[in-house]
Amino acid sequence: MDPDPQPKAMVRPASGGDRLAPVALQLPPLSPGAATGPAEAWLPWSGLSLALFLMLHLAAVSLALVDPARFERLAAALHQQVWLPAAELLLAAALLLHPALALLRTLRNRRARGPAAGPLRSRRAAGAEAVAALAARWAPWSGGVLLVFLVVHLLQLRLHRPAPGDELAALLAALASPVSLLLYGLAGPAVALHLFHGHESAHRSLGWLEPANRERIRRLGRGLALALGAGFSLLPVALVLRATQPAIAP
Ligand code: HEM
Repeated sequence: MDPDPQPKAMVRPASGGDRLAPVALQLPPLSPGAATGPAEAWLPWSGLSLALFLMLHLAAVSLALVDPARFERLAAALHQQVWLPAAELLLAAALLLHPALALLRTLRNRRARGPAAGPLRSRRAAGAEAVAALAARWAPWSGGVLLVFLVVHLLQLRLHRPAPGDELAALLAALASPVSLLLYGLAGPAVALHLFHGHESAHRSLGWLEPANRERIRRLGRGLALALGAGFSLLPVALVLRATQPAIAP
């Protein structure tokens, strides 16, 4: 086996003649995000923007449980904002770009490793590290679940806008079907798994992960993943349970 991993190129020696001599190509050392093109630089940014959206989204939709009247007021006010179409356009761009760029990176990395290499196997051991290894391996699947969920979710709640004051009724109508409730139930764990890997991976791709801050970023990302996953999993169930409870007379 070649002990020097640098690829070789054949050049004509300066002394002339037809013989080709091998020389080492001086490539920059491979960094974790190195197998990326310029377009793929948007992959971590789109992922982090979507994580920020999910934090705001969970905070907003939680109002449906804790303060329904405020939830209705917020939804009505939101749809009167002049900046909303621009924000939604940016959100749609991130939602479309992110899976497309992730697919591009997966294909590029697979091509760089070669067909004989097979899938990456992590040597990380147990506990949270085993979950992180699983989350990394399943990232395309958790992302796929979220894509399917999003298509259904947007068709239900964004394409057909309810009248002002009917937001919670529309949400409960969307959750009424067992299939749709199951999809919401899957979306929560998918968010958790995707972010468990994605938060740290995005920081690494942006070159922000250093030995000094790695543990802090890792703990923050995993905590955020679990909080968002739990919130998006429990909220639909809590909303449906509350709606089926008989109203308590004053
Ligand atoms: C507990 C689970 C969830 C509930 C109850 C919920 C509820 C809602 C509601 C009521 C809307 C309509 C908001 C409006 O237009 O005023 C909405 C929109 C939206 N939701 Fe969710 N959502 C949930 C989970 C998710 C998840 C997990 C994602 C992403 C993976 C997501 C992404 C979106 C997007 C992109 C929009 C459109 C935002 C816009 O264009 O204004 N939602 N959601």
